[in-house]
Amino acid sequence: MNCLDFEDPLDLLLENSEPAPGCMDYHIPVLAEEVVAFLRPAPGILFLDGTLGGGGHSERFLQAGARVIGLDRDADALAHAGERLASYAHRLTLRQANYADTAAVLDALGIDTIGGALIDIGVSSHQLDTATRGFSLMHDGPLDMRMGTDVARTAANFVNQESPEELVRILREYGEENSAVRIVSHLVNLRHARPFETTGQLAAAVSDVIPRTGRRHPATRVFQALRIAVNDELGSLQRGLDAISARLARGARFGVITFHSLEDRIVKRYFKHRSSEWIDRPEWPEPKKNPDRIFRLLTPHPIDPSPEETAANPRARSAKLRIVERT
Ligand SMILES: C[S@@+](CC[C@H](N)C(=O)[O-])C[C@H]1O[C@@H](n2cnc3c(N)ncnc32)[C@H](O)[C@@H]1O
Repeated sequence: MNCLDFEDPLDLLLENSEPAPGCMDYHIPVLAEEVVAFLRPAPGILFLDGTLGGGGHSERFLQAGARVIGLDRDADALAHAGERLASYAHRLTLRQANYADTAAVLDALGIDTIGGALIDIGVSSHQLDTATRGFSLMHDGPLDMRMGTDVARTAANFVNQESPEELVRILREYGEENSAVRIVSHLVNLRHARPFETTGQLAAAVSDVIPRTGRRHPATRVFQALRIAVNDELGSLQRGLDAISARLARGARFGVITFHSLEDRIVKRYFKHRSSEWIDRPEWPEPKKNPDRIFRLLTPHPIDPSPEETAANPRARSAKLRIVERT
């Protein structure tokens, strides 16, 4: 069943529509079969699920007999998944935390190494579909976009307080928005008269500058860029890759699911660097042994969802899974 029907991957992430009857899931886990096949959860193995969300992937690990530590920045996700997975409570530990802080969480639990890990980054369907969280372009709500209480500044704070130069950088770098300068100068004019408070206000202001062509809302890229900036998503990813890699036991596998090219590029480069035997630079006379190598790369090309999966869950369409094994 198609729960939501969008044509563009960005629309899948950012726009919103009423879920069809029977499609009220908190979040449908993407690439779940592939995650299980590659990460091989089994009794006695301790998994870290760094992005618990609705608990769909964790449920698969638990069903296979593994123990799971589930992290999420979002208290709603922890409450929901904790309730849904209550029958596994004896093998499940939940903590509200950024996966970038994995070291502190494991230290506090007295755990040295983990037998496998997954991060499935971005926002959950629940977050996107809840107007009061401020991620939605289609339903008016407060211009918030914070994934959790650890995030200090709201999207409104960014739009109302940031310098025009920084806003242009955010829209260009995180939204790949070509009209960043025009959009920002309009926002800056408007915010003097009346500060931005709602998603609807921002979406309308961007529409003043960029007329709608096709199905995608003109503010789609602006919303993506702000969400990434508000939650420091790329910074968390960079720090999280290091933090989780450092705690993997020998033979443990680590999977990362991304939803857009900015994230995927970071993961691809990180896994490539940490699995290459040799490194070379133009200024060196010859290649050198790579001192950072700790992985075997299991996915030279990322794994994409099957056509059946994207037909059933259009939000899976832009997902990419990359996996490494600790050597
Ligand atoms: C795509 S959903 C994960 C869905 C989950 N795998 C499932 O099967 O339901 C992403 C979740 O990760 C959380 N999240 C995003 N970035 C995070 C971070 N840096 N640390 C912890 N949680 C994060 C979000 O709050 C959201 O609940």
